Parts: sequence; structure tokens; C-alpha cells
Amino acid sequence: MNYSEAYSKLSALDQTQLLSFFDELTDSEQLNLLAQIDATDFSVVTTDKNSGERGIISPIGVTEISEIESRRAEFMHIGLEEIRAGHVGAVLLAGGMGTRLGSDAPKGMFDIGITHPLYIFECIINNLMDVVKLSGNFIHLFIMTSDKNHASTVNFFEEKDYFGYDRKFIHFFMQDMAPTADHNGKVYLEEKWKISTSPNGNGGWYSSMKKGGMLDTVKNSGIEWLNVFAVDNVLQRIADPVFIGAAKLSNCTVGSKVIRKISPDERVGVMCLEDGRPSIVEYYELTDAMRDEKLESGEPAYNFGVILNYLFHVQELNAIAEKDLPLHVVEKKIPHIDEEGTHIIPEKPNGFKFETLILDMIHMLHGCLVFEVERKHEFAPIKNRTGTDSVESARELLKLNGIEL
Ligand code: UTP
Repeated sequence: MNYSEAYSKLSALDQTQLLSFFDELTDSEQLNLLAQIDATDFSVVTTDKNSGERGIISPIGVTEISEIESRRAEFMHIGLEEIRAGHVGAVLLAGGMGTRLGSDAPKGMFDIGITHPLYIFECIINNLMDVVKLSGNFIHLFIMTSDKNHASTVNFFEEKDYFGYDRKFIHFFMQDMAPTADHNGKVYLEEKWKISTSPNGNGGWYSSMKKGGMLDTVKNSGIEWLNVFAVDNVLQRIADPVFIGAAKLSNCTVGSKVIRKISPDERVGVMCLEDGRPSIVEYYELTDAMRDEKLESGEPAYNFGVILNYLFHVQELNAIAEKDLPLHVVEKKIPHIDEEGTHIIPEKPNGFKFETLILDMIHMLHGCLVFEVERKHEFAPIKNRTGTDSVESARELLKLNGIEL
């Protein structure tokens, strides 16, 4: 793309501010910026924060721990058979910016050890190794990174020798980026020669796997189930045979691990039905009426929160791969350069990032196995340095589970 083509593309979008410093740039910087303008999909940029009307919400059936325990051996047997047949892969979502943790490095490189180093990525590999040992089979692990953290993530795994995991079973792929914009929808520059971009949310993981050539490995290895999980829960069970066995026997094409909420106001998204299909209502969307609604049993109707650990049947993913997910417009602090070319690090939110979310995929599928797990054994998210869902709280939970720090 040359300058005049870039100018026409941007002027149709009212974004010509991106060329404000063009004359000051070196030849290679100019080429860089023109290539980025050519490649960027600006259609996501909007200032409309309303992510759409919700349908009719009603409670969803949950497979609770008591039932799981009574059928544990049966589920385990089926799940291990699936793993041994090579039907199970795992997808680690590690493309996020982890801004709340406040470290520049990828979140998985964070060291939560006290007397010795223990990295978040290491915890994840250790957890997966439990299943490898139990089943006698390595499980393909696909790791999603972004343009912002790909090189450091790959180098870190290399440097740590994949924490003892078989390297042949680890595959990295990158998610897409989306431009960021100010409150008026004007796209920011990060440098005079670079559009400000941010990872486009965790909803695009499957299309990014496809783009990154991962589906060849999925197909060639006969993988039928993908267990997708977040980087920050250091206690989660990955490729859990009991979960896999239960999903297979349930005839559902998606499963979601959930925890019983500790209080009606806990800030987790809850599983529900929306217009009769599985869905998730975010904590900030929960009305007072929904919060107070009770089932016949007397239990709160929306009492099970998601922990970002889902099991998808690959066939079903292929069927929904081309469908568009709703766009979430998220207000954030966005470092950028202003009209004078000065670097600005904002102290309060100054614009929007544009994301799609994995939780919206659940609503595209028909039946969902909602699978309760014990929160003190499977839920130790690290979002913040201190307080709720923090390094401190995760350390306590790791200790409780016998992990030496
Ligand atoms: P979060 O919603 O906690 O976002 O991601 P984050 O970017 O890690 O952290 P904050 O909000 O900036 O503090 C939940 C999971 O989804 C992944 C994250 O890496 C994490 O595992 N994720 C999020 C992606 O892989 N890509 C994204 O674009 C966003």
C-alpha cells in the first residue's frame, strides 16, 4: 500500500490522524506504518458500549459434586480412555496483557514462589503432568500468545526446557490484535510509525488456531476434545479425565467447569440458559431479581460461576468457526502519543479496546455440561498483586493443596 492508498482508506474511516507524523519518519518506518494500515481491520472500532440486548434468562441444570463423586470411577475410566486414544488436547490462553498484575512480562512468567522460584507457567505444566503420569500419554498443549508477548513466552519455555514437558507436544500460535481508540473513536498511535493495538480478546482462539496452522495437528493427531483454560488459575486441573468422561457420557458438545459462589455478590460470571440455550451472565449484568431468585430446593437460581475452563468438541467448533461473536467495547488506560508526538501514560481510562470473549461461544452451542468443582482445590486465579484473586490468595491456596512455595 502506498501513501495515497493509505490516505484514501483512512479518510473514508475518518482516521487520517494516523498519518500526522508521516513526513518525519524514516523510509523503513513509513513502510512499517503503511503495511500496518493496510493490514488493520478498522471495522471493530466503535464508541457504542452497549454490547447488545440479552434474551430471556433462566436457570441451567448443574452436575454437582455429590453426583460427580458417586460416578467418579466411571467418568475417570471413560476420560482416561479418551486421553489414551489421543482424543484430548489442551489450549492455554496466554495472549492477555495481565495489566492488573502490573508486570511487563507475560503473566505466565510471574514467579509466585517464596523460598524457590515457581512460575505460573510451571504450575500449569506441573498440573498437566499429573494427567500425563496418570494416563501414560503426553497431551498436545497449544499456547496462544499475542504480538506483545510471543517472543518472550517462547524464549521462556525454551530457557526452562519446557519444565520437563515433551517439547514435541507444545505448540505456540498467535492471536490477532485490534486497534485501540479514544473516547471519540479515533484510533491511537503508539509510536509515530505504529498504530496502537491490543490483543483482540480470548474469543478468537479457535480462528487463530486455524490461522496458525494448529488444526493440522488437531486433525492429524485425532484430537476430538479441546480443553481451553486461562493462564492465571494456578490450581486448575487440565485435561481432567473425570470432566472429559462426564462430558462424553452427557452427549454435550461443550462442558464448563463451575464453582459454587461464596456470596450472591461474588464477581464471577454465572452459568444460565438464555432463550433456552447455555449462556453466561456477567456479574455486572446480574439484576437484583436474578440475584434473589431461588430454585424449588431453596438454592439461589444463579449460584455457579465460571472459571474459564471449558471443554469443546472439535466438530462443533468447526461448525461455529465462521460465526461472528459479539464485540465487547472495554474502557481502559491506553498509552499513546498525542498530537505533539509526546508519549502519554494515562492515569485513568482514556479510550477503548475491542474484544471478543470465549464465554460468548458457549451460547452458540446447544447442550452444555455444567460441571461443579471444589473451589479450594481448583480455583486460585491471579489477577492482582494483593487482595481478592491475587498472588497472596493464590499462595495460600497452593499451600493448602500441599504445594511447596
Ligand atoms: P483476563 O480477562 O483476565 O485479561 O484474561 P488479562 O489480559 O489476562 O488481564 P487484565 O484484565 O489485563 O489484568 C482471561 C484469560 O484470557 C486470556 C488471558 O491471558 C487469560 O488467560 N486472554 C485475554 C487472551 O489470551 N487474549 C486476550 O486478548 C485477552
